Amino acid sequence: MMTKEEARQRIAALSEELEQHNYNYYILAKPTISDYEFDMKLEELARLEREFPEFLLPSSPTQRVGGGITKEFKSVKHKYPMLSLANSYSREEIADFISRIKKTIDEEVEFCCELKFDGLSISLQYENGVLIRAVTRGDGMQGDDVTTNVKTIRTVPLKLHGDFPPFFEMRGEIVMPFESFDKLNGQRLEAGDDLFANPRNAAAGTLKLQDSKEVARRRLDNYCYYMMMDDLEDRYKTHYESLQAAKKWGFNVSNYMALCKTIDEIFEFIDYWDVKRHELPFAIDGIVLKVNSYEQQQALGFTAKSPKWAIAYKFKAEEVETELQSVDFQVGRHGTITPVANLSPVLLAGTTVKRATLNNEDFIRQFDLHYGDTVTVVKGGEIIPKIIGINFDKRQAGALPVAFVRTCPACGTELIQNEGEAAWYCPNSQGCPPQVKGRIEHFISRKAMNIESLGEGKVEFLYDAGLIKDVADLYDLTYDKLFGLANDKVSFKEKTAQNIVDALEKSKSVPFERVLFALGIRNVGEVVAKTIVAEYHDIDAIINASVEELSAINTVGEVIAQSVRQFFENPVNMGIVERLKAAGLQFAKADNSTSALSQALAGKTFVVSGVFANYSRDGIKEAIEAHGGKNVSSISSKTDYVLAGDKMGPEKRKKAESLGIPVISEADFEAMIGEEKVTAATEEPENVQLSLF
Ligand code: IVH
Repeated sequence: MMTKEEARQRIAALSEELEQHNYNYYILAKPTISDYEFDMKLEELARLEREFPEFLLPSSPTQRVGGGITKEFKSVKHKYPMLSLANSYSREEIADFISRIKKTIDEEVEFCCELKFDGLSISLQYENGVLIRAVTRGDGMQGDDVTTNVKTIRTVPLKLHGDFPPFFEMRGEIVMPFESFDKLNGQRLEAGDDLFANPRNAAAGTLKLQDSKEVARRRLDNYCYYMMMDDLEDRYKTHYESLQAAKKWGFNVSNYMALCKTIDEIFEFIDYWDVKRHELPFAIDGIVLKVNSYEQQQALGFTAKSPKWAIAYKFKAEEVETELQSVDFQVGRHGTITPVANLSPVLLAGTTVKRATLNNEDFIRQFDLHYGDTVTVVKGGEIIPKIIGINFDKRQAGALPVAFVRTCPACGTELIQNEGEAAWYCPNSQGCPPQVKGRIEHFISRKAMNIESLGEGKVEFLYDAGLIKDVADLYDLTYDKLFGLANDKVSFKEKTAQNIVDALEKSKSVPFERVLFALGIRNVGEVVAKTIVAEYHDIDAIINASVEELSAINTVGEVIAQSVRQFFENPVNMGIVERLKAAGLQFAKADNSTSALSQALAGKTFVVSGVFANYSRDGIKEAIEAHGGKNVSSISSKTDYVLAGDKMGPEKRKKAESLGIPVISEADFEAMIGEEKVTAATEEPENVQLSLF
C-alpha cells in the first residue's frame, strides 16, 4: 500500500506526463508513446484518484473522459465582453477597411491574416496555469458556464507549462471536425434521430449536453485566436507574438496564419484559402484580418459591437434565389412530420435543386414563410439544401402564410407534440400508411432483412393492394399470390415473383441482431441492436428485460431502454413478433459459429460410430448439430439413432439392437437432412457443405 505522500507524488507525476503526451498527440501530432501505454497510465491515475480522492485535481487528465453531469448551465458575466467582428464580402470592403485604419495610423500597418473557424466562440479562463472556467459567448456580456464539457476536448489544455501569466483569458472557437460530424450524423440517421444541419450546429448542440461523457465521445476540437488580460501590451508587442507564446504554453493555435502588409498580400491569402478550405478537416467560413500591433489596436479602439482593428472576410457560400412553390408534410416511419419545401428547380453548386428541408414548425415560424416567397437556398457542408433567407421585397400581395398541419396529411389523425420538442408526431402508428410502409421498407432494407427484390415501389403496391399490412404479412406471400400482379409502375413477372419468394426464404437465416434491427424499434439502430443481442440470448429475454437492466448495458442508456420497453409493451408489436417467430425467423443468438441450417433433426440424439465416406468424425457431429440434433457418446435407451460408418465396433451394434435403437447409414443420414433442405432451405446443398467443412 502506498503512503499518502507517495500517492500524491505519483498522481502529480502521472498527470504531468499524461498532459504532455496529450499535447504531443493532439497539438503537435507527434505522439511519443503508444495508445496502449497511454491508456495504462491513465487507468493507473484514475485508480489512484479513486483511492486518494483528496488528490483529484480539477485539471487532472482523467477529466477528459467525461462523466460529470451539468444539470443546468450557470450564466456568468464575462470579465471582458465578447465582441463580434464586422463582416465584409468584397475586395472593395477590405480596401475601405484599410483606408479607414490609415486615417488614424500614419505609419506602416501589418495585418495578421487568420482562418475564420466556423464553430462557436469560447472564453477559457486560466488561473496559475490551470483552466478554471469555460464560458460560451451568450449575448456577449454573459454566457453559460460549460467547463465540465469543455474539459473533455483534447485540444483545450487543462494545465499549462512555461511562463504563462497568473491570470488571463484565451478566446477561441470550438469546432466539430468533419470526421466527427459525419460519424455523429451517421449514428443519428441509423437511430432515426434528426440530423444536424452542419458542424456548427452539431458543436453547439454538443456543448450544451448534460452528460459530459457523450461530449467526450463526439470529439470536438478547439482553436485559439485571441488572448485577453490586463496590461497585455506590456508583455507582448503584437497579437501574433501573443499567439506564439500561447502555443508554447499548450494551446492549439493554427499554423495557417500570415502577416501581410498590402491588400495584394491579403488577397493572396484569401484566394488561397477560398480554394484550399475544402481540404481542411474542419469548416471555415472566411478569413479574419487583425491589426497586428497592440499599440495600433489601442489607437483604433472599438465600436459598440466590434473592434475597429479587425474585420472578417466571408467566403461566398454558393447560394441562389428561387421560388417556394409548395410545402409537403412527410410522415416518417416513426410518425415524425417533416415539412419539405418544393422549389422552382434551380442550379446550385453543380446540381439541380428542387427541394429543401424546412426542419420543423419553429423553422417555418422563424422565417415567417409564405407560399410563393422568393427564398435563398444554400448548399454548404449540409446534406440537403437549406433555406437561409427570404427576399421580402418580392413577396406577392395576398400571399398565404405556410401553416404547419395539425392533422396527419396521410391519415387525418390529430398530431401530437412531445414536451420540449419542436417536432410533431402522428400517433396512429398502426393505421397510418406512410408509417406502416416506412416500417416495411426498413424491414426489407439491405442492412436489415435484405429482401431488396421487394424494393422500388413494390412494397407500396402490395400495401395498397391489401396484401401486406405489416412485416409479418410478408411471410404469407407466395409465388402464386405475387405472379401476375401489375400496375403502371411495377409488375410481378415470373422471375420477380420467384426472386421475392427466394429472398423471403433466405431472410429466415438472417442473424438475430439484424432481425432485432429490422423490427424498427425507435432509437435501435444497427449498432445498438448488436449491443443488445450481445447481452441477451433470445428475444424473450429482451422482452422480459426491465428498463433498468437494459439501460445498464454500456452505451444503451435510458432513452433507448424506454423505446425497447414501449415497443414490446404494445400488443400489436408482440403479435407481429409471434407471427415472425412462427415464420421461422432467427429470434435467438446462434450458439456457435456454425449457425443452424435446419431443424430436421430437432430433439433427436445421435451416437456416431465408425468412419464415413463424406465426413470426418467431427464433421458429421457438426452436421448433426447444424440440423438441430444432439450428439451423445454412449448408447442408452434415450438415444434416437446410432449413425454407423465403416468399421463400427460389434459391441455397439449389439447394444443398439438389444435396446431397439435404429442403426442408420451415412446415406440414411444424408437423406434425413437432405429432405428437409429441399422443402425448407433454398441454399444449394453444395454451398452448405462447403461452408460447413
Ligand atoms: S477574433 C474581438 N479570430 O468569428 C475579436 N474570431 O464573426 C474576437 N471567429 O465571435 C474575435 N475565427 O466566434 C476571431 N480567427 C478568428 C476567428 C474568430 C472565428 C469567430 C468568433 C467571433 C466570430 C465573429
